Order: sequence, then structure tokens, then C-alpha cells
Amino acid sequence: MFRIKVPAPCKINLHLSVGGRRADGYHNLESIFQVLDFGDTLDLEILKQDGVCEVLLNSPLPRDDFPASPEDNIVYRAVSLFRQRTGFDRGIRIGLEKRVPLGGGLGGGSSNAAAALGALNVLAGTGLSPAELRDMALWLGSDVPFFLPDLPGSRGINGAAGLGSGGTAWVSGRGERIVPLETPRPWPVLLVNPGFSSPTGEAFRRLDAWRCAGGGENTGPGREALIGALEAGPGDWPFWNDFFSVLGAGSGEEAVAYRRIVSVLRDSGAGFTGLSGAGSTCFGVFTDGGDAERAARLLADHRFFVCVTFFLACSAFRVLQC
Ligand code: C5P
Repeated sequence: MFRIKVPAPCKINLHLSVGGRRADGYHNLESIFQVLDFGDTLDLEILKQDGVCEVLLNSPLPRDDFPASPEDNIVYRAVSLFRQRTGFDRGIRIGLEKRVPLGGGLGGGSSNAAAALGALNVLAGTGLSPAELRDMALWLGSDVPFFLPDLPGSRGINGAAGLGSGGTAWVSGRGERIVPLETPRPWPVLLVNPGFSSPTGEAFRRLDAWRCAGGGENTGPGREALIGALEAGPGDWPFWNDFFSVLGAGSGEEAVAYRRIVSVLRDSGAGFTGLSGAGSTCFGVFTDGGDAERAARLLADHRFFVCVTFFLACSAFRVLQC
């Protein structure tokens, strides 16, 4: 096989609770990840010339949002790591259709990296095990293991068949402990990115500082009750995101933007509203797709990125074309 095209869907965090800072600088999380039917696409092709790696970006997003040097793109780093670990040195060209806003808490870059690793494993015929791929994925970023595609013939992550490009999971540790959950109904979701990014490390630092200064802790149901609540409709979800308490507080321009978006989502009939990851994308989960479309029209603003999509249940590693 010389060419393969694979999807790299994005996610939202329906719930995100952040523990204290660990000795290694990371924080333990407890989160419910939900993949959406919206994302990027990677088209990988083997080239005649060994050793080269070209990442060709095609995107409607502002050019300024991307790293100035292609080598800083996480897809490029995924290819380099794969080469180091496997010795694979055929030339590779990756066409990256990038639709997911960068630095928006939707896991776009993480999903790109996971899709690249999974596709390279197939293209190169290296047959790496899920454990070997997971190790590489975590090295690239805390959210990358969640997006790893199921491998043909494998039993998938944590022995659960079918966690592939899609699905719902309870994610803990730094992001590497992944327990697949049953996906709720394909609820409509409106994503609203306020037009600014929220660098992850900086958001964690602000959360730590806020807690040191006596900022209150969010408290709520424990793991089993949170997972059980997924069976209810969005209006009854008890989920929260610890980052929202910090990023959405105060009179700063960004905090005001977050609160305005959430309030429009609520007024438009969203059963549940939240912030994804460490920001900056807000979302509303609706029971009626028409309400989501109407809210999208209200929030369509030259600065905002809006997109109506829906929960994606898990599916095996989908090869779009080869
Ligand atoms: O792993 P990743 O590169 O996505 O993390 C970016 C930054 O976010 C880390 O350097 C760390 O500061 C913070 N982080 C954290 N705890 C996590 C994940 C990320 O503190 N579980």
C-alpha cells in the first residue's frame, strides 16, 4: 500500500475535573471525552525519495494560527518519532485538511498525531502493538492516546474492541487511562470558538494560581454517578469543567466572551453547556438540531467559529481511501 486517507475527528470534554499538580508537573484528570462528527483529514502517501517528510496544509483557518515552521506541526513530530522508534525511512507526504481550530480544546492536533501514527503503522507495515503506539502517543501529548485508532485484528485500547475513531470514554491519569463508555444518543452539538486560543500549559498555571489564592473547588457526584448520568438527557447532566471557574471569571475580555456565548447557548435551548478542555471552545448540547442551527445563526460573528455537529459513536479505524 502506498497511500491512505484517514479521518481525525475532534472531541469535547463533557466533564473535566482537574486534580492537584503532580511531581512531574502534570495534573491528574478525571474527564468524559466525547468524539464528534467533525474533524480534519490526513492523506498519507509514500514518496520515492527516502527520508523526506512533507506536510501540506490546506485550511480555511487563519494562517497566523499555525506554527511558523512546519517542523513544529505535531503531525511532523509524529512522523519523526515513528521513524526513530521503527527505523522506517521511506519518504512521506501528508496532506492535512485542517478544519478544527487550533488551541481550542478540541484535541485537533492530538487527533492528527494519533491518526498519523495509526496510518503510518498500516502504510509502513510495521505492525506495532497498541501498547507501542500508546507509548509513542503519550510522548507526543497527554490527549493523543485517546484518539488512537483501533488496529485491525487487535482488541483495541484497554482490551475493549472498537474504540477507534469515535466514541466516548472516561479518561484519567495524565490522559493515558482510557475506559471506553457507551456513547449516548447522537445529540446535536454547537461548537463556538471565540476567536482566541487558550494555551493548555498557561490554563493549568492559572488554575493552580487561582487555587493557591483560595479559589473554591467544584464538587459534585463521583465517577460512577457521572458515568451513569450519561444515560439521562443533556438537561440533567451534572458535569462541569474546572477551567471554566477560572477562565470564565472576572471582567477580562475573554471571560466576558465565554459568559456571553454560554448565555446565548442556554437561551437558545441548549440542555447542557460547557467549555472543552482548557478552552477556548464552548459548546452546547441540544435535544433539537433546529435549536442548535438557530443558536449558530445568533452566534455567527466575524470573530467566532461556529459549527453544528453531533456525537460520534465509536467505529473501527476508518480508512477513507487507499
Ligand atoms: O501533554 P501536553 O503537551 O498536551 O500538555 C501541555 C501542558 O499542559 C503540559 O506541559 C502541562 O503543563 C499541562 N498539562 C497538565 N496536566 C495534564 C495535561 C497537560 O498539567 N494532564
